[in-house]
Amino acid sequence: MTAAVFAGRFAGKVIVVTGAAQGIGRAVALRAAAEGASVLFVDRADFLAEVVAEAQGDAAGFIADLETWAGANAAMRNAADTFGGIDILINVVGGAIRMRPLAEFEPDQIDAEIRRSLMPTLYGCHAVLPHLAARGGGTIVNVSSNATRGIHRVPYSAAKGGVNAITRSLAMEVAGQNIRVVATAPGGTEAPPRRIPRNAAGDSPDERQWMAQVVEQVTGSSVLKRYGTIDEQAAPILFLASDEASYITGSVLSVAGGDEG
Ligand SMILES: NC(=O)c1ccc[n+]([C@@H]2O[C@H](COP(=O)([O-])OP(=O)(O)OC[C@H]3O[C@@H](n4cnc5c(N)ncnc54)[C@H](O)[C@@H]3O)[C@@H](O)[C@H]2O)c1
Repeated sequence: MTAAVFAGRFAGKVIVVTGAAQGIGRAVALRAAAEGASVLFVDRADFLAEVVAEAQGDAAGFIADLETWAGANAAMRNAADTFGGIDILINVVGGAIRMRPLAEFEPDQIDAEIRRSLMPTLYGCHAVLPHLAARGGGTIVNVSSNATRGIHRVPYSAAKGGVNAITRSLAMEVAGQNIRVVATAPGGTEAPPRRIPRNAAGDSPDERQWMAQVVEQVTGSSVLKRYGTIDEQAAPILFLASDEASYITGSVLSVAGGDEG
């Protein structure tokens, strides 16, 4: 359970959080519920209901594969049916599946990275727009990455560069509908062991070595010379989602200990 820091900050708001079964998405969804929002937790993990049960406040779960248009659309429809509309979408699904130099990627592995880290945000934004417009406006927060400049995960870097482009360009398109589109770009983030691994096939000894090089590069590129925590990622995401950020749109906020990505 994640405690409210600003009690009532999201009172009366409906928030959809994707990737809510673990990691950053879980922390964001639990804190949003504790701060007064009605929250739809969306994920494809079969244990999602256990996480929803931890929420203090109004919460429901919806299982969907957000790498598909149908999944994204069904999730937004479910939120609107369950809670009467949508005010905020927080697109968290993503994450590098494999760490390896570009030359070592197979073509199907490249496609899988783009499907995981670009398409859920693109489909999610597209699917939520009519729901936000129906409320007279709203907010989309995308979770990008400082890996737009980093080693051993170039396809993922490209996907997150795409997320930044969606954020900047869509913000221009929909400003007139009172919709803000913003993003955070997390740096390396400490997390408890993942219940769902990024790479279901497991990591080879080479991949573990390349991962160690990534950790060294990420830590070295930061000014603070350390990884962040999940709570340090959830806090700026929820700030950007809140009305406190009403004059911020089209921005990608680095949350990476000083690494601008
Ligand atoms: N953890 C980090 O160090 C870090 C650093 C930079 C950026 N990020 C970004 O932050 C976000 C969250 O990272 P995390 O480490 O908390 O993630 P994670 O891998 O721990 O969890 C991702 C969640 O998304 C769900 N998911 C994956 N594919 C899905 C799909 N197709 N449909 C529905 N649900 C799906 C998983 O089931 C899981 O619950 C990602 O976008 C990631 O790229 C993370």
